[in-house]
Amino acid sequence: MEYRNYYLSFLLALFLSCPYSSLLAQNPPYKAVNLGNWLLAEGWMKPSLFEGIVNKDLLDGTQVQLMSTKFQKYLAADNGGGAGIVANRDSASGWETFPLWRVNDTYFNFRVFNKQFMGINNQGDNKIVAVSNSPSNQETFQIIRNSGDPLKIRIKASNGLYWQVRSETLVTADYGQGTSWEESDPSVFRMKIVRTLEGEYQLTNGYGPDKAPQVLRDHWNSYITEDDFTFMSQNGLNAVRIPVGWWIAQDPNPPKPFVGGSLAALDNAFTWAQIHGMKVIVDLHAVEGSQNGNDHSGTRDGFIEWGESYIPQTVSVIDFLAKRYGNRPSLGGIELMNEPQGVNLDSLKKYYKEAYDAVRKYNPNAYVIMSNPLDADSKVLLSFVTGFNKVVLDVHYYNLYSDKFTNMNVQQNIDYINNERASDLSGVSSTNALSFVGEWTDEFLVQGASMQDYQRYGQAQLDVYSRATFGWAYWAYKCQYNHWSLKWMIENGYIKL
Ligand SMILES: *[C@@H]1O[C@H](CO)[C@@H](O)[C@H](O)[C@H]1NC(C)=O
Repeated sequence: MEYRNYYLSFLLALFLSCPYSSLLAQNPPYKAVNLGNWLLAEGWMKPSLFEGIVNKDLLDGTQVQLMSTKFQKYLAADNGGGAGIVANRDSASGWETFPLWRVNDTYFNFRVFNKQFMGINNQGDNKIVAVSNSPSNQETFQIIRNSGDPLKIRIKASNGLYWQVRSETLVTADYGQGTSWEESDPSVFRMKIVRTLEGEYQLTNGYGPDKAPQVLRDHWNSYITEDDFTFMSQNGLNAVRIPVGWWIAQDPNPPKPFVGGSLAALDNAFTWAQIHGMKVIVDLHAVEGSQNGNDHSGTRDGFIEWGESYIPQTVSVIDFLAKRYGNRPSLGGIELMNEPQGVNLDSLKKYYKEAYDAVRKYNPNAYVIMSNPLDADSKVLLSFVTGFNKVVLDVHYYNLYSDKFTNMNVQQNIDYINNERASDLSGVSSTNALSFVGEWTDEFLVQGASMQDYQRYGQAQLDVYSRATFGWAYWAYKCQYNHWSLKWMIENGYIKL
């Protein structure tokens, strides 16, 4: 009797110690969707976001190649940088390709392969060299475009004079004459754009400090609303994964060019999730320095610079998120870094350990999610994670981005899910960590596939990814391309949960 009373009061105490909503809220495995392109912009998903930018083809990180029309040769940073600029290349690759830094609508810096910036020599000879490691006035140039195809430009230096190619080994900024854009003009260059980036840095710096705040706030307030949480919860989803950038920790005054306000939007997501019985997985998708060089990593120019020296500030972002959301009943987990690729594995593990400890300061039980490096086998973290509790390993499965999928037909894609993906996933699941397919989509490289093909391919993925012990998350909720939009796929009967 006495024992039974004790036992009942223990149960009651346990019940009361849990917030009511957390008893109702979902537990893994999750059926989730990525709220991609909401708090972290990706131009390919919604190009109209970038439409109001002046010179929108010349954003930060745009890689250009410059050909002297007079010599019909490409400019190159000799040795990739650290020396003069020459004009003697018949074809262009790394040393002949220059990522831009945008200063404003028409002024730019040109970075070279070894990361120096082109600028005017200090020797008084106006020679263009690539020796400076940070851009100043000497390294800032105005691009003057000639309308027409192919794109021709002139480049004006801070001394008011234009670049000219004097010889195949000498480029100077000392040409004062006007131009009629003749091919023989030594100050005319043909500019070829070979890569563009369209991420949050490009968007905010492209609009500039006067326009960016309004554009971003309008986007955050309209792209995802509470109605979407209603839709998601009514259609079988029980969690969202929300990509965020490192600057959210400094909201409302993040470093330029980023814009404050995404934190309030994330707060809303937690509230809406709670109302609709869903969970939020906060995903640090863009870390300072960039962990993969992609548009969605917050990079300015595509260089991957995250590493050992960036660990303290990256941990402090996780600390901030864990402090703010660590005890919210609708927290589903905190993902420490999305898709590292080309970063040192030991640095990554060191970071994962420190960031894990940061989360544990605020919550002993919250799920901590570690993304598997994209350039490593999915088992590379298995032995490392045995030292942690409530850890999740995130793998991303796309039958895209690799030559091996190019010629696969529908059935071969499905077989690949049922065999290779299933086997890979079971390897991840066999540890003390939970497994999570944090990104996948019902798109493949098959041309002209029917609705039924997409249904079969989608169902095969759902069947296999449902074996992930933490669950899965579709990429994405909304997108200009229908198959990448789970909302569209559900509304149009392609996917049913
Ligand atoms: C753009 O930047 C250049 C170089 O710093 C500056 O001279 C120019 O005034 C700026 N233009 C505008 C419109 O801010």
